[in-house]
This record gives sequence, C-alpha cells and structure tokens, in this order.
Amino acid sequence: MTSNRRTFAIISHPDAGKTTLTEKLLLQGGAIHLAGEVKARGNARRARSDWMKIEQQRGISVTSSVMTFEKTYENGDIVTFNLLDTPGHEDFSEDTYRTLTAVDSAIMVIDAAKGIEPQTRKLFEVCRLRSVPIMTFINKADREGRPCFDLLDEVADMLALDVSPQSWPVGMGGLFEGILDIGSGRVSRPEGDSREFLGKVDEGAALPEDVAEEVELAQAGYPEFDLDAYRSGDLTPVYFGSALKNFGVAELIDAIARYAPPPRPQPTDAGEIAPDRGEVSGFIFKVQANMDPQHRDRIAFMRLVSGTFKRGMKLTPSGLGKPIAIHSPIMFFAQDREIADTALPGDIIGIPNHGTLRVGDTLSEKNEIRFTGLPNFAPEILQRIALKDPTKTKQLRKALDDLSEEGVIQVFYPEIGAQWIIGVVGQLQLEVLISRLEAEYKVEAVLEPAPFDTARWVTGEDSVLDAFADINKSNLARDRDGDPVFLAKSAWDVGYQEERNPDLRFSTTKER
Ligand code: G4P
Repeated sequence: MTSNRRTFAIISHPDAGKTTLTEKLLLQGGAIHLAGEVKARGNARRARSDWMKIEQQRGISVTSSVMTFEKTYENGDIVTFNLLDTPGHEDFSEDTYRTLTAVDSAIMVIDAAKGIEPQTRKLFEVCRLRSVPIMTFINKADREGRPCFDLLDEVADMLALDVSPQSWPVGMGGLFEGILDIGSGRVSRPEGDSREFLGKVDEGAALPEDVAEEVELAQAGYPEFDLDAYRSGDLTPVYFGSALKNFGVAELIDAIARYAPPPRPQPTDAGEIAPDRGEVSGFIFKVQANMDPQHRDRIAFMRLVSGTFKRGMKLTPSGLGKPIAIHSPIMFFAQDREIADTALPGDIIGIPNHGTLRVGDTLSEKNEIRFTGLPNFAPEILQRIALKDPTKTKQLRKALDDLSEEGVIQVFYPEIGAQWIIGVVGQLQLEVLISRLEAEYKVEAVLEPAPFDTARWVTGEDSVLDAFADINKSNLARDRDGDPVFLAKSAWDVGYQEERNPDLRFSTTKER
C-alpha cells in the first residue's frame, strides 16, 4: 500500500543525537539488534553504513544512505519507513539538498541544552523551500537543558512557525522521570526506573503540581495540533525525549506513521506526477561511486514516484534516451542490502551502473516526463586544482567528472588556461575531494587559491551570450555539462555584470 509508506529524513546539527535517534528508530521497527551500549556504537556504525575511508578517519558520515524498516501495529497495519540519512557535518554539501528533494517529511532534532543551531536552521529552510513538513524532537531531556518554554519559543520565533507541544518531560536532567504524552495523559518512564513518583503516576495518580501547571500553560499557550497546518508546513508538532535512553522515540515514530504525508506527487515541467499514475517513474537524487572498493561500481539512488516497479523492468533514463533493463535493484535495509523484487512509490532503490545514470535523470517507462527541482548551487569557495604528477591529467579529469556527478564538488573548465577550478559550498568538501582522489583514483593533487570568489551560470540568447563570452573570456568557464559559467572576483562583480547585461541571466542555481 502506497499510503503506508513514509519517506523521511532527519535534520540536525552535528552532535544533537541524529545517529542515536536513527538507531533507536531502527530498533523500534525491530530492524536491528545492536549489541552493547552506545560506547560500542562508534565502530558498529562505521561497519554498517560508512563506506569511505575519510569517514573512518574523521568519524563522520559524509555520504547519505538509505535505511528501510517496517513497524507492525496492533490493528494489523504495517507501515514501511524509508529513512534517508543526510550528512551530519557542519559543512553540508549539495548532497544534503538533493536528499531532501527525495523525502516527504523530516524530523528536526534539537539538543535541549543548545536549541536551534545554524546548521539546523539552514536545513530547515531547505525543507521549507521544498514544502517538506517537519516534526520536532527535542532531545537529551535526561540532561540539564534549557527551560522547555524557551525552546518552544525559540523554534516558533526563529523559524516563524507555530509550535504545538505533544509531549512534555517530567523533570529534566537529574530529575528526569519520564515523558508525558499530553494527549492521553500517560507517562512513560525509563526502563528499570522504579522511583516512587512514577509508580504513582502509573496508577493514574495526579501529576506533581509543578508539572501539571507547566502542561496546563503549554496547552493554553500554544496552538493545538492541526494536521493540515502541519502538512502545509505552518506548524510543527514538538516531542520531547531522550534518544539515548530510548524515550519519546516510539511516540515520534508513531506520529510519523499517523501524521506524516504519504508519498507525494512530484513536479515535472508539465505538471505533477501523482503516485497513483500507472506508469513507473522516478528520479535519481544521488549517485555514489565506489561503494565497494573491490568492484568499481556506481550506485544511482532512485526515488520511485509512480507505478509499481518490478525487478527486470525496462526504464528509459532521460539522460540516455534508450531503455535499460534493471536486473539488480537494491533495497537498503538497516544492515543489509537486498535485491528488490518490487518497489512502490516513496521507495528508494539503488541501481548499479557504470556511469549511465546521473543525478537529476528521470527514469520512466514511456520517456515522456522530466522531473524538475534538483538544483546545482553556486559554489561559495573556488580553488584551483593542480597535480603533483602532471602525467595523471586524464585520471584527474575522469575523477573530477565522477565526483562532480556525485555532487561532492563542482568542476569548472576555464576557457583560457589549463587549470581547472573546483567549486564547493563548504570547506569539508575539499578535504573529501583530496582524500577520495588519493584513495579511489590514486591521484595526488593539491588545491591552490583561485582568483575568483563566486560563480554564476549565465543564460540568454546565443548571440548575446557569445558577445558576452568574447569580452569576458578570462572569466568564463564551462561546467561539466559544457554550460557557460561566469567566474567572478566578488559579488559586486556579479552585480556590475548583471547591470551591464540586462538580457542575460546570472543564476546561483542550475536545474539539472
Ligand atoms: P549526531 O549523529 O547528531 O552527531 O549525534 P550522536 O547521535 O552521535 O550523539 C552525539 C552525542 O550525544 C553522543 O555522545 C551521544 O551519546 C549523545 N546523546 C545522544 N542522544 C542523547 C540523549 O538523549 N541524552 C544524552 N544524555 N546524550 C545523548 P558522545 O559522548 O559524543 O558519543 P559516544 O561516545 O557516547 O558515542
């Protein structure tokens, strides 16, 4: 059942507890059985989903992956959750943006001691841009945190959003005793905690006065949950909890099952494609090269938009124009990958290929539709790349093409001169680049300052564009697809050119 699919991502600032929450969510679904405590988790986690060397070195997850799990409810409903992991580092890359194009909703995790941090806010804004509704999980209630009302007000003010608390911590920090579900009045408590007070609550006794008062204030001071307001992105339901102690996690996943939107229609240049359209269609939002160092394979991640996909089916990638048979589609379960026999709208399948599939490609049976909305972003850092061994030019070009396709970096080939320019949104991407060039392509390269600060895609009528290119040759480059890019020394430079060339468009994004 399509309507029983929930495809979502978790957005947060590093250290807010995304990894811990992910594990607890998977446990909820019975998808994994983790041995030992969180201390053992570091290595287990790396073995499970971190493929790349740099991730091990730095202890971070640079690449996104997909985790599918199911939960069976008492009434017999089975809900399938597709959790898309987004990189958890401060410098997020385009990869993160694109992952968010493939989800229907998101969970925003906030550390109760810290509140909303810049990274979270940026990601929130991307979600809003894409009308992805958000549930808020205020984590680490078992630690001394900021007052709940402060946190709620901060979410409301900083994000210009209605907040509706759905649960409330009974005590925080050392006094943490459990989570009250405001709707039902039930308190759940940490496993093995047999303190007096909780025993009383379980028997249906009244809440302690201070907690009862707080909850009353919370109910009076904030709007009630409203499904339409949530789904249209105007309201976020807020759940308190502790991922570490597995508190409030069941409530959160149940809320996703109950309220989060099922797979939604996706935009094309000719209107939206709904999940119930018979034709199988989907789009590639991510390509991952070299997932298995033994085989130089590439996996393209496709979000299925409509139809029932069957293994072996022939689909036409928009970038290729002729159909390919998909014999080994991969589904990603918590620990394993499996060959998928069928997939439904909202599902993510991995398609092994040798470079035929690219980010932004539409795959469909009839090859008539094109999904839109997967952008490239103007880089904020530009650097020249130079080889230590100049005989490796060919390898470098291949590597840069591969990695730009994955969205790790962007590459620009200047019209004049032989030095290629790398563009990124965050510094970390550069480190990833150098490390992957060495590990996967055996290419040693260094980065050097470039005389440019920013870049814009230039579009316009051919004759106008040609005239502009003639005058500005030393600032002109081509991107991987051969599209013209204006490399500027400053934002002022861009403004100046925009004014002088009213018939050209200088864009910070490019649709793929
Ligand atoms: P991230 O993926 O968002 O970066 O965060 P992660 O889950 O790795 O959690 C960051 C730190 O916060 C970890 O501690 C984790 O144990 C802790 N944490 C997560 N959820 C909770 C919670 O509900 N309560 C408390 N008290 N702590 C929580 P660490 O010491 O950095 O890692 P580790 O050594 O425990 O693995």
